[in-house]
Amino acid sequence: MNSPAAGALEGQLSQLRNQRVAKFKDPRWLDRTWRGCAANTEFALRARAGRYLLPAKGARNPRAMVPPSAGELDSRRFLFVTGKGGVGKTTVATAISLAFARRGKRVLLALTGAHEQVSGMLGCAPIGHPLVLVEPNLWASRIDPERAMEEYGALVLRVKTVAKLVFENRYTHGFFRAVPGMLDWAMLGKAWWHTTEEVHGERRYDVVVFDGPSTGHGLDMLRVPKVILDIVPPGVLRRDAASAWALFRDPSRSGIVVVTLPEDMPATEATELATTVREELELPIARLVVNSRSRPLFPPAERARLIADEELSSWALATAGGDRRASGGDRAMGALAAAARRAAREELEERTVERLRRELSLPMTELPFLFGGAGTRAKLAALADVF
Ligand SMILES: Nc1ncnc2c1ncn2[C@@H]1O[C@H](COP(=O)(O)OP(=O)(O)OP(=O)(O)O)[C@@H](O)[C@H]1O
Ligand SMILES: [Mg+2]
Repeated sequence: MNSPAAGALEGQLSQLRNQRVAKFKDPRWLDRTWRGCAANTEFALRARAGRYLLPAKGARNPRAMVPPSAGELDSRRFLFVTGKGGVGKTTVATAISLAFARRGKRVLLALTGAHEQVSGMLGCAPIGHPLVLVEPNLWASRIDPERAMEEYGALVLRVKTVAKLVFENRYTHGFFRAVPGMLDWAMLGKAWWHTTEEVHGERRYDVVVFDGPSTGHGLDMLRVPKVILDIVPPGVLRRDAASAWALFRDPSRSGIVVVTLPEDMPATEATELATTVREELELPIARLVVNSRSRPLFPPAERARLIADEELSSWALATAGGDRRASGGDRAMGALAAAARRAAREELEERTVERLRRELSLPMTELPFLFGGAGTRAKLAALADVF
């Protein structure tokens, strides 16, 4: 508790304690509040000491290797979508949310990316931090980690004025920002909290779909509740992390959605990601989504002939950059070379999908490649049909 930030925190709270504001007449309340803050500070200090986000390479757990049973998405209350950068995580998270909403579920789509693009896809007003209804049954929020942290503070500290004092203090503000994992927990914790939210005794949302960060950052974010459980003493933070972790580990209520493309590099990354999720974090994977799969144009025998033809292959390579002169301006040859390239692409996709099936044995959904991107309402609706 020697850091200036911890000292500032203590100062703020003891000042409040001395003021004996009417609401805080019961000193036990303040003690509870202080214990919550102390837990946060302890967590932060340990994190600074470097004992944070170090993957505890546990022994291979045979239970975790068992693929999740039916892979049905509909029973889940929390889905965490992740995968390599640019593979279509936001598109998939939005398509799944749209599919759920159409089936009458109340869905919260929690976005985390720096650039909000979902409003452009759905044709609604820009989505900010406050939750907004964007479609019947579908709410969305682009979670701002700092505001989420302040909201969490308000929940933990119960009274907004206290939370504001703590979180707007320039020392504590900088302090929380500097701690790896705290802002991640603010986002993930907020999304988790919405799974518990009730209105008149009924759940506010049936499912929260979390558009998570790309592979490495996504894994770090998923590790945070486990790290809190490992290092933070009993208190509000630990209690919430325990509930969130219990939800994330329960394959009947929660699951990770791994998104990939049918190409070598993204597939390799997806395999590593899925292996870490299962073996190290021991979290259930609800679905592997292979996005942007080309529609096969050639029957297998024809495809094999196109690929096997060496002359055609060299023409296909030579004209790969769209250089028509390489085909000597011969349109028929140009078309054949394009067919050979397409055949090679189909072959690559098929091999990659087979490899993913073999290596991961996960429930898999393939989404078609859509010309011109997936960024319109109609295209999203078409992708939602697959879920
Ligand atoms: N099935 C598809 N067919 C064609 N284009 C697609 C498909 N899915 C996604 N796209 C396009 O690929 C681009 C990247 O998609 P998206 O933004 O969903 O990826 P992301 O994984 O969320 O990216 P980031 O890592 O930057 O968050 C977008 O232009 C999107 O329209
Ligand atoms: Mg995205």
